[in-house]
Amino acid sequence: MDSNGPAGLGHRGGASGCPLEGSPQSSDRSNLVQTCLQQFTVTVAQLQQIRTSLLGSMEQALMGQNDPAPAVRMLPTYVGSTPHGTEQGDFVVLELGATGASVRVLWVTLTGTEGHRVEPRSQEFVIPPEVMLGPGKQLFDFAACCLTKFLEALPVSNQCLPLGFSFSFPCHQTGLDRSILISWTKGFRCSDVEGQDVVQLLRDAIERQGAPSLNVVAVVNDTVGTMMGCDPELGPCEIGLLVDLGTKACYMEETKHVAVLGEDLGSVCVSIEWGSFCDDEALGPVLTSFDHALDQESLDPGAQRFEKMIGGLHLGELVRLVLVDLAQRGLLFGGCTSPALLSQGSVALEHVAEMEDPSAGTARVLAVLQNLGLSPEASDVELVQRVCAAVTTRAARLCAAALAAILGRLQHSREEHALQIAVATGGRVFERHPSFLGLLKETVMLLAPECGVSFIPSVDGGGRGVAVVTAVVTRLATNRRLLEETLVPFRLDREQLAAVQVQMQEAMAKGLRGEASSLRMLPTYVRAVPDGSERGDFLALDLGGTNFRVLLVRVAATGVQITSEVYTIPELMAQGPGQQLFDHIVDCIVDFQQKKGLVGQSLPLGFTFSFPCRQLGLDQGILLNWTKGFSASDCVGQDVVALLREAIRRRQAVELNVVAIVNDTVGTMMSCGYKDPRCEVGLIVGTGTNACYMEELQNVAGVDGDSGHMCINMEWGAFGDDGTLGVLSTHFDASVDGASINPGRQRFEKLISGMYLGEIVCHILLHLTRLGVLFQGQQTQQLQARGIFKTKFLSQIESDSPALRKVRDILQGLGLSLTSDDALIVREVCQAVSRRAAQLCGAGVAAVVEKIRENRGLEELTVTVGVDGTLYKLHPHFSRLVEATVRDLAPRCKVTFRQSEDGSGKGAALVTAVACRLAQTPRI
Ligand code: BG6
Ligand code: GLC
Ligand code: GLC
Repeated sequence: MDSNGPAGLGHRGGASGCPLEGSPQSSDRSNLVQTCLQQFTVTVAQLQQIRTSLLGSMEQALMGQNDPAPAVRMLPTYVGSTPHGTEQGDFVVLELGATGASVRVLWVTLTGTEGHRVEPRSQEFVIPPEVMLGPGKQLFDFAACCLTKFLEALPVSNQCLPLGFSFSFPCHQTGLDRSILISWTKGFRCSDVEGQDVVQLLRDAIERQGAPSLNVVAVVNDTVGTMMGCDPELGPCEIGLLVDLGTKACYMEETKHVAVLGEDLGSVCVSIEWGSFCDDEALGPVLTSFDHALDQESLDPGAQRFEKMIGGLHLGELVRLVLVDLAQRGLLFGGCTSPALLSQGSVALEHVAEMEDPSAGTARVLAVLQNLGLSPEASDVELVQRVCAAVTTRAARLCAAALAAILGRLQHSREEHALQIAVATGGRVFERHPSFLGLLKETVMLLAPECGVSFIPSVDGGGRGVAVVTAVVTRLATNRRLLEETLVPFRLDREQLAAVQVQMQEAMAKGLRGEASSLRMLPTYVRAVPDGSERGDFLALDLGGTNFRVLLVRVAATGVQITSEVYTIPELMAQGPGQQLFDHIVDCIVDFQQKKGLVGQSLPLGFTFSFPCRQLGLDQGILLNWTKGFSASDCVGQDVVALLREAIRRRQAVELNVVAIVNDTVGTMMSCGYKDPRCEVGLIVGTGTNACYMEELQNVAGVDGDSGHMCINMEWGAFGDDGTLGVLSTHFDASVDGASINPGRQRFEKLISGMYLGEIVCHILLHLTRLGVLFQGQQTQQLQARGIFKTKFLSQIESDSPALRKVRDILQGLGLSLTSDDALIVREVCQAVSRRAAQLCGAGVAAVVEKIRENRGLEELTVTVGVDGTLYKLHPHFSRLVEATVRDLAPRCKVTFRQSEDGSGKGAALVTAVACRLAQTPRI
């Protein structure tokens, strides 16, 4: 049989467009039509290949690889948050480009979760052709004029209204409210707009119009509107899929993966212009002769090959080309065509949708065909429907493969194989075609069976969706302002830190002189750091940090060897009767001795006791007060060594020789000093915080002797207990202090150390929740519980990858459900609190090293600070911030920070060793 093929669009036969020879038998016809339609079949393997190839192009585009140019464009939209469903208020939307040659203005009222849905009011204004082709200024003036007219008819007060601008032309968006037009399409061709920021042009026009105060908050592209416009009660949609005249999609991507943004915070909605996707290997086998014909006759041959198989603009045309071919081959309409059928664009999406509608019936199909000037027979109906179905089924399946590429992308970036996600669908193909969505779903299930995908039709993405985006942007701006206001008192400037340093130095001087001061400046009777000649086996106890440890420390010529056991001190014991606490300590020692085969040996013992003690000698320390959650009774005012000896006596079997009591700061300094003789400062930032340093003996009131040095335990945790720090203290700090077991005490420690930072964060989070900035304003029981937010969470959260997964895990572990905005805010709160802590700690260290430098009258001091404590060691930025602050505030001191490796227990043993060396014979 003679056939011109699909490209042969000649009007064959006689004037009627009918063939000269007869038509084939009906069963042959059916088979031949089937053979022709076979071309539109896309196998699962082909779909998978398309998905893989498209995913590759998407990832290439995300990474900003432009050589060769990726087959798809991935454009960040700057929308970083999906709606909560709580969005409320009145919003104006201006739509340009989505509705053809008109401007649509909408008034959208969002009522949050509580209210009833309020139908938007809208008005459409036809744009005169001369405006579409005239100067850009004229077009924007026209738009502003439409806004004014629309609002005049409404009872609008003088309040400032947020406006969302839906601008559906190819743009290069550079911010939420900045979008540069790349080129006009859809019949618009106004001068002086390409290359300009359309938001600015609109703002200028609004101003020229003297329109009521309208605040253009966001410029939104139609896919984003589709995604954001879906019903929030069903949960957030994180993918928007538009199949309108063309097709594109958007989804929430992690910002760190979007190279052009150069940011690594949270997520951002990325718009995928996948219509241009073209890959010879993946698409080649799928393209039919009809696709080639369609492409050739199009305005942009060779471009948008993927879209030309899916978009509503092309489906009708593809159907038309197939019908022409089949008619010309005598397989349809008795071999007749019609001028209408032969003219490009005569079959529209609506026709295809109508003919495929199962409820339409034969008569409707016949009517559609007759309108095309054809004389169909009843037997043509089923064949024509098959043609339509072949074309749309392929479109839906290809679209599903593309959607599966996004799913694959999210599975990969979120590391969630069984991804659960909602997809908002929008556009005329979804709205009008009866089975497109069903076919799409089926294929997605085939390609990504492990994902749970729900499809949610978007309700007027162009209007309501844009209003929702505007609301979200407005909400984010308000939240940001409230967050900033909350965190401002935590952001200390240089002047404030320098003032802390000065006050600290003054308090040090007073404390040393024995005058009233919040710094006790306690002499430790440690006069020298080890010189390396110490030898022997020593026992050490280490009480007051996260762990209670018993250690055997072997000091030999080859170095120091440590064996230790960790024991717990239950809270009941830390806060119960003192005798019980000391009995427990001795029990632990006995256990240790038994385990290590030390029973019967009376080794010299050094006791790291990390609480404020007034020492009367190396082995005598009167407990001044408890700190850090300890409150055992009958201990304050007692000699701690005596309490330990009494407990030893009560357990008659044990023999112990307590030689020294050492604060953990001192233990740390000694332990680091063993390796570095320049180590003359000890710093702890753990459960509590404190520092010690080598002071000139002549400056220390109450200790005999005028030459040499003595290590001073500053007990700086109490700095500010006289009210000095009042201005720095926020009401969150006051709440933490009020809820502690020692209100009004250890004020500096409560701003810095691990025992309190989590609590401060927790109070801020509660406050932000009350303001509605966090957790959608939902107060939770969980956060009210004291001690729930551990300081180690700060370290983990701030170490977190940009995906903020850890924040999610931690907060979900606490029973809180959060959005990615919440996660970002929680992280910012943690950062502000830990930053302030590190800076205050740095100001303290600066005071100490400056004091040493001034004592010695040096131009420049080189000194090492030995540091220990879980917060300092585990937090990702704490040490860096401390060091930076010290460099800034004490520029004449060259300070090296050395982390203690073996804890203060080793230092206590070394103090003991020094004492034993000096005393020659150990005391009993
Ligand atoms: C340890 C010391 O290394 O650091 C303890 O051995 C000290 O004595 C501790 O109290 C401080 O850190 P944290 O985080 O355990 O309180
Ligand atoms: C759909 C979408 C809308 C888009 C329009 C295009 O209605 O929801 O965002 O602009 O199709 O025709
Ligand atoms: C507390 C104690 C102090 C100790 C510090 C660090 O501030 O009072 O003695 O050094 O915590 O553990």
